[in-house]
Amino acid sequence: MNVLVIGGSGGIGLALVKQLLEQHNIHSVIATWCTKQPTLEHPKLSWQRLNLCDESAIAASLSQIEKLDWLINCAGVLHSEHLKPEKSLSQCQADSFMQSMQINALPSLLLAKHAAKALKGSQSGVFLTISAKLASISDNKIGGWHSYRCAKAALNMALKNVSIEWQRTHPKVCVVAWHPGTTDTALSKPFQKNVAPEKLLSSEHSAHLLLNKLQQLSPADTGTFWSWDGQQLSW
Ligand SMILES: NC(=O)c1ccc[n+]([C@@H]2O[C@H](COP(=O)([O-])OP(=O)(O)OC[C@H]3O[C@@H](n4cnc5c(N)ncnc54)[C@H](OP(=O)(O)O)[C@@H]3O)[C@@H](O)[C@H]2O)c1
Repeated sequence: MNVLVIGGSGGIGLALVKQLLEQHNIHSVIATWCTKQPTLEHPKLSWQRLNLCDESAIAASLSQIEKLDWLINCAGVLHSEHLKPEKSLSQCQADSFMQSMQINALPSLLLAKHAAKALKGSQSGVFLTISAKLASISDNKIGGWHSYRCAKAALNMALKNVSIEWQRTHPKVCVVAWHPGTTDTALSKPFQKNVAPEKLLSSEHSAHLLLNKLQQLSPADTGTFWSWDGQQLSW
C-alpha cells in the first residue's frame, strides 16, 4: 500500500508516520511538512514540502503520485501568532475566521480533487481527515471557539459531500472524519490545564488508535465520523 500523510510534521502526523513505517503491508509513505521539516529518515519514507494554502502546490504534489491507497490529512490549526480561539463573539475577526477555513476546511476538498485519479486504482482506499468532536453541530452544548468550530464543521460537510460523489466514481474508497481525542501536541498545549491527565492522549497513543481504525475501515463506512474511543459521532 502507498500512503500519503498530509501534515506528517505535526504531533499526531509524525507519530502516525513512524507507526506506518513499521507495518509490513505498507510499501511507501510520502509525508508532508509546511514550516518544520522533521529529521526522520527511513527507506520507505519520502518527505515533501506542501503549503495547503496553495492549490497549485497541492496539484503538483499529487500529480507525482501514480497510485495511492490511503490519504490521511493530519494538518490543522487552532492557534497561531494571529489566531486565537474566540471565547465570545466580540473576539471574532474576519481574517482569523478565513485563516481557519483556509487550513482546516478547504484543503480536504482540494486534496480530494487532486488525489481522485491516484486513489481510483486502489482496491481498499481511504481518504481520512482529522476533524474534531467539537465540529459536531448536534453535540455542541458549550459554544465558543467560533472560527475553529465552523471550519471543522465545514470540513465535515466537505468530507460527507466527497463521500457521496465518490460512492458513484470511487466505490472502493472510504471517506471518513476522525476525532483524535485531546492529544498532547503543540496545537492543544495552551488548552491542556483543564484536561484531566487520564483524558490527555500521548501523540503515540492517538496515532495508534487512528492506525487501528484505518485498518478496520471498508467502503461500507464511507461518509462517517469516528472518535478515538470507538464511538461513531453524529454530524
Ligand atoms: N491535538 C488535539 O488535541 C486535537 C484534538 C482534536 C483535533 N485535532 C486535530 O488534529 C490534527 C492534527 O493536530 P496536531 O495536534 O497534531 O497539531 P500540530 O502538532 O500543531 O500539527 C499541525 C500540522 O498541520 C500542519 N500545517 C499547519 N498549517 C499548514 C499549512 N498551511 N499547510 C500545510 N500543513 C500545515 C503543520 O505543518 P508544519 O508544522 O510543518 O508547519 C503540522 O504538520 C489537526 O487537524 C487538529 O485540528 C487535534
